[in-house]
Amino acid sequence: MTAQEETLDLVVTGRREEAAAVVSLTLARPDGGALPEWTPGAHLDLLLANGIERQYSLCGDPADRTSWTIAVLREPQGRGGSALVHETVREGARLRVRGPRNQFALLPAPRYLFVAGGIGITPILPMLAAAQAAGAEWTLLYGGRSRASMAFAAGLVERYGDRVLLRPQDECGLLDLAGELDGLAADAAVYCCGPGPLLEAVERHCERTGRAPARFERFQPREPARTAGDRAFTVVLERSGRTLTVPADASVLETVRGAGVDVLYSCEQGTCGTCETDVLEGRPDHRDSLLTEAERAESASMMICVSRCLGERLVLDL
Ligand code: FES
Repeated sequence: MTAQEETLDLVVTGRREEAAAVVSLTLARPDGGALPEWTPGAHLDLLLANGIERQYSLCGDPADRTSWTIAVLREPQGRGGSALVHETVREGARLRVRGPRNQFALLPAPRYLFVAGGIGITPILPMLAAAQAAGAEWTLLYGGRSRASMAFAAGLVERYGDRVLLRPQDECGLLDLAGELDGLAADAAVYCCGPGPLLEAVERHCERTGRAPARFERFQPREPARTAGDRAFTVVLERSGRTLTVPADASVLETVRGAGVDVLYSCEQGTCGTCETDVLEGRPDHRDSLLTEAERAESASMMICVSRCLGERLVLDL
């Protein structure tokens, strides 16, 4: 599945409790050698036992080429990946990872508002350091259920002072998005990571006020990948010279892989961007959680793990 992307076997060199139900893991090469470069906003795929894969943001310092840090929230309602990490991954354990990959890159801006909900703080951490180093003005609005559940909160306040607005819900209620977004300069960029309802509230606010769309990192899909009205359609793989029928109950990715064509993929939920494929002809029915409205309208690419076809036929660069 990942023929073209590097898979690394790493060792856990540190494990820390960062907050209630959050552990951070430090990963390094067993020989201490240099790890691949990454930029703020990048995530990696953790390849766990039983074929379970999960994406975690890198939250350490990109200049440190000898170790990576991720933080994992134990999600009681999750699909089992985070529980597996919490229960079985200790210092000295070996972990297989793939990546890093960045779908949430920090673009240059004079000002930023960072909005983080809960464990959504992880990709934001290296962004804060980068914004600070670039001399940008920035504010972090960081919400969580309670102070004890908010990983890295104390260290952030210590390092950055009143640029950091900590808003535990049990003390402050819901985040005052309007208060922060309304007063924001027009040239400020908004970056947000957290639970779906938070991302949607930020998205709605930006739309309503005519502000440029915020940039998001989602780890849960924005919409269901399958619907009752799904139909079969034809997909032409231009480079492979194949024409396939995507049945109503299968994805493009499943169909293409079933035909023996090697493609990269990871989350199969439209959230990680690994399977992004160039569209040469046809109108995709975008169901991913990554492309902006403008990118959807342009349809230069699609996430083939979830997106389908609005017409009868798609031609893909595969
Ligand atoms: Fe993650 Fe398609 S595999 S977006």
